[in-house]
Formats: sequence, C-alpha cells, structure tokens
Amino acid sequence: MARTAIITGAAKGIGRAIAQKCLNEGWQVVACDKNEAALGDLKKELDVKTLVLDVADVVSIKAAFASLEATNLPYALVNNAGIFNGTKFLEYGSDDVDLLLDINLKGPIYCSQAFGALLTKHQAKGVIVNIASVAGQAGSADAVYGASKAGLVGFTKTCAMALAPNIRVNAVAPGMVETDMWAQVSDERRNVFKNNELIKETIMPEDVAESVWFLLSDASKHYTGAVLDINNGFYLR
Ligand code: NAI
Repeated sequence: MARTAIITGAAKGIGRAIAQKCLNEGWQVVACDKNEAALGDLKKELDVKTLVLDVADVVSIKAAFASLEATNLPYALVNNAGIFNGTKFLEYGSDDVDLLLDINLKGPIYCSQAFGALLTKHQAKGVIVNIASVAGQAGSADAVYGASKAGLVGFTKTCAMALAPNIRVNAVAPGMVETDMWAQVSDERRNVFKNNELIKETIMPEDVAESVWFLLSDASKHYTGAVLDINNGFYLR
C-alpha cells in the first residue's frame, strides 16, 4: 500500500513542492494549510487529500490526527508551515511573538506529538521531517523567527530521542529559497545572502523537496536527529 505523508503549509511554496515530489514518487499526500482558498486551488492541480489545519491551534491539530486515524494511517509528517514577520526585534509586540512561536515552533511540537501518539498506538514505523532554516543556525534579521528555527533544530534532536526507534526525526535547514516568503525580506538582507553564497544558483522549492524526499525515504534509514543544510555554502559548520 502507498505510504501517506501529511504536509503542513502545503498550499504553496516549499510545502507544495514537497507534496508534488511525494506524489511523483507514488505516495499519497494529505495537504494541510490554514488557507482554505489556496488549498482549493491546490486540489484542482494535484491529486491530494486536503485538510484545513491551523498549526497554531492545538485543538484542531488533535481533531485532524483523530480523523486521519479513521481513514489511512500516515507514514510521514512534514512540519513545513511557518511564517516570517521581518519585524525588528525592538518593535516586536507580545502578540506577534506568541503567534510566530505558536506556528513555527509549537506547531511542529504538537503535530509531532499527535503523530507520534498515533503511530505508537498502532506500533507503526514512520518519519518526521522538520523545515528549519539557516536562520536558526547563523542568525536572522528577524530575531524571533531565528529563535523559532533554532528551537526547531533543537526539537528535531530531542524528538528523535523521544520517538526512537520506530519514528525517525530529521530536519532540513534551507538558506534563501525563492518563494513568497522571501519577497518579505529586505533587499539589503537578500544581498548579504547573495554575496556570501559559494554556489551562485538560486535555490528553488523543488530543490528543497529533493532533500526532504531523501529524509522521507528509506535511503536515509540510518538518519535520525540530523539536520541537512541546503544553503549554497552560505553557512559552513
Ligand atoms: P510560504 O509563505 O510560501 O508558504 C507557507 C505556507 O504555510 C502557506 O501556504 C501558508 O498558508 C501556510 N501557513 C502559514 N501559517 C500557517 C498555519 N498557522 N497553519 C497552517 N498553515 C500555515 O513559505 P515558504 O517559503 O514555502 O516556507 C515554508 C517553510 O520553509 C517555512 O517553515 C519557512 O520558515 C521555511 N523556510 C523558508 C525559506 C525561504 O527562503 N523561503 C528558508 C528557510 C526555511
């Protein structure tokens, strides 16, 4: 039977490219997003099951995973949904800090918890891939965004320990990827990236999807708690 991947924030950008890659490889996809209209458009183009899900809403996460149990037990979870505010640190309001952390960090925590509980109940094997960012490794013009992604890198390791041995948990940390999110980044910051990348080829969502696919597939069966950098050599470690 075809494996099923749940992908959050799948209506566009990197999430959509991951959905497309999984379909190309013969998997089934549950595309989750809070943007219902964009999900409707996606459904017209890709053969996916769609689920309106706001990852900042714990109650809706629990309901979504309960509904999945009744249909098709998923094999994979991709925690992709995220926002970038581009707000200067000293101008951040507490509501905006809370919302960003709710989506970028607590969303993956609660989705992974629901996914882990579901698979553990059925003694099933599975895999989680988190979409972190170079912002969590090298810093960010948006301090709270950078903190959320650094948290996600840490959570990737602790979650790998918590869900072993049946569920592998890994992350990718992309640099500058051409999506709507990057349109929010200042020209100044874009130039810092461009000037410091060793490889001068734009990273596209489909490129990120290739690395995510590696982590989803059995080719990475010995990987857990790992973070793959996709940053054109912008950040070396
Ligand atoms: P995007 O803005 O193009 O797409 C994000 C998707 O997530 C949208 O469909 C949006 O509706 C959805 N979303 C937002 N909040 C949500 C919520 N509360 N619940 C469910 N869905 C929600 O962004 P992009 O660029 O595709 O980013 C995807 C992930 O990759 C994010 O986690 C981002 O932080 C990360 N990333 C992006 C980079 C880039 O350069 N574009 C670089 C490194 C990481």
